[in-house]
Amino acid sequence: MSIRMEPTIFRFPHSRLYDFYTRVFFLKVYEQFAKWIPVDNPQGKVLDVGATAGYLEVALAKIHPGLAVYSTDLSPHMVYLNKKVIKGNNLQGRVVAKREDAYNLSFADNSFDLVINSFTFHHWDKPRRMFSELYRVLKPSGEMFIIDGKKGFNYEEMKQFCRTVGFGILGRTLARVMARLVWIDFVSTGYAQRALSSSSFNKATCEGAGVFMFLHGLKPATA
Ligand SMILES: C[S@@+](CC[C@H](N)C(=O)[O-])C[C@H]1O[C@@H](n2cnc3c(N)ncnc32)[C@H](O)[C@@H]1O
Repeated sequence: MSIRMEPTIFRFPHSRLYDFYTRVFFLKVYEQFAKWIPVDNPQGKVLDVGATAGYLEVALAKIHPGLAVYSTDLSPHMVYLNKKVIKGNNLQGRVVAKREDAYNLSFADNSFDLVINSFTFHHWDKPRRMFSELYRVLKPSGEMFIIDGKKGFNYEEMKQFCRTVGFGILGRTLARVMARLVWIDFVSTGYAQRALSSSSFNKATCEGAGVFMFLHGLKPATA
């Protein structure tokens, strides 16, 4: 069974609810994601599109103190929550929260070394347009790295992931319910690969691994 549980833009009060359960259940997940993100330039500029309250950016900035991180979302309330999270973690100046439409970013061409995102790809109804905007703001040789849930993951894969991030009993119970009964409208790796293949990225791959899929693209050095 698949139920569309989420709106595309997380406005108040949905933003508050999402923020609550990410704080309770997902902080360890973002810490794990931050370790997986390929940071080639530890002094570089990173952009997240659809960052919600920015917990992934906080985890990333703690691992790589030299990074300048832009944490963006279209929802004004999410940007407000993100600013509070940045302040609470003393990351002002290193992580910047900004309201941005990922389809139409205000940043100049060739601005970022790395563009990242988690759990948002399945919300993008125009993935090719999104890839072309992300490609535009990346510097030559810059990378795009996107993590999302994989459509059709199974209970064993979810259990394995819970072990990896060290979920306690509450997290494991929630995961069990999610995996067995309801799941958000994640998309298949085939769908993501087709969208990536028609983009301008080099080495554009979508790889399924356990409950996740990883989308990766490289902007050519000569672009
Ligand atoms: C499912 S949440 C995922 C958030 C976060 N990356 C995470 O891992 O929890 C999707 C977010 O994308 C934002 N969003 C949706 N469309 C957007 C757009 N066009 N530009 C910027 N943000 C967008 C929503 O407001 C929401 O906060």
